[in-house]
Amino acid sequence: MLNMIECENYREMSSRCAEELLLLVERNPRAKIILATGNSPLLTYRLFVKEIIHKQINISEVTWIKLDEWAGLPEENPATYEYFINKEILSPLNIKKDKYITFGGKGKNINQECEKVENLLGEIGKIDAAVVGIGRNGHIGLNEPAKELNIGAHCVKLDTITKTHKMLTSSGEHHVEYGITLGLDQILSAERLIVLATGEGKQNVYKKMTERKILTEVPATMLHLHRNAVCYVDVSSTK
Ligand code: GLP
Repeated sequence: MLNMIECENYREMSSRCAEELLLLVERNPRAKIILATGNSPLLTYRLFVKEIIHKQINISEVTWIKLDEWAGLPEENPATYEYFINKEILSPLNIKKDKYITFGGKGKNINQECEKVENLLGEIGKIDAAVVGIGRNGHIGLNEPAKELNIGAHCVKLDTITKTHKMLTSSGEHHVEYGITLGLDQILSAERLIVLATGEGKQNVYKKMTERKILTEVPATMLHLHRNAVCYVDVSSTK
C-alpha cells in the first residue's frame, strides 16, 4: 500500500522528495532511477540538482531512465519530455549519454524504441527508484485508463485529457495523438516508488486512490500494489 505523507504545499512536497533522492544517490552512487516529467517533479529536480552541485556529490555512475514521451515530436521541441530532462537534469549535472536510457518519439520506429528500452532495462537489472506523477485522468507515465494495462514499454493512444496536458498546449502542440511509456510492471518493479500528488484537477483521482481498490480505469490505484511506496501529497492542491 502507498504510504501517504501529507505535505503542506508544493514546496514542502518537493523538498521532501528531493531529500529522499539525495539520500538515495549518496548511499548508492550506482543507483538506477526512473524519472517522470511535468510540473509535479519540477521543483524536486531543481532542488535536487542544486544540492548535488552545492555538495559536489558524485553522480557520474547513476543511471537515469526516462519514463515516457509524446510520439511524433523532435526531441528539441520544448514540449517533449526529452527536452525537459535535458534542461532540468542531464545538462546541469553534465550526465554522460551512456548513463541515460531514453526512447525517442520522432521519426523512429516506436516498437523498436520500446524493444531497445526493454533490452537496456534487462541489461542493467534492478531499478532502485521511480519518481512518478499522476495524470488528471489517473494515468501513470502514459499508462492511460483502460480495461487492461500493459506490463512493458509500449506505444499508447492518448486519452482526450492527456492531449490537453500543459506541456503540449503551452508549446502550441495540439495534434499529438500517441505516446510511448514504460509499462506498469517496469514502474512497479522499482525497489522504491516515489509518487508526487500535486496539481489542479486531480481531486477525483485522489479520491479513488483513498478508496483502497485497484482499478485499471485509474492506473494510479495500481501503485497500491507496491510494497515500498511513498506518496508525497501536496494537500494544498488535493482538497
Ligand atoms: C503527463 C506525463 C506523466 C506526468 C503526468 C502529470 O502527461 N505523462 O509522466 O507524471 O502527466 O503531469 P503533471 O505533473 O504536469 O501534472
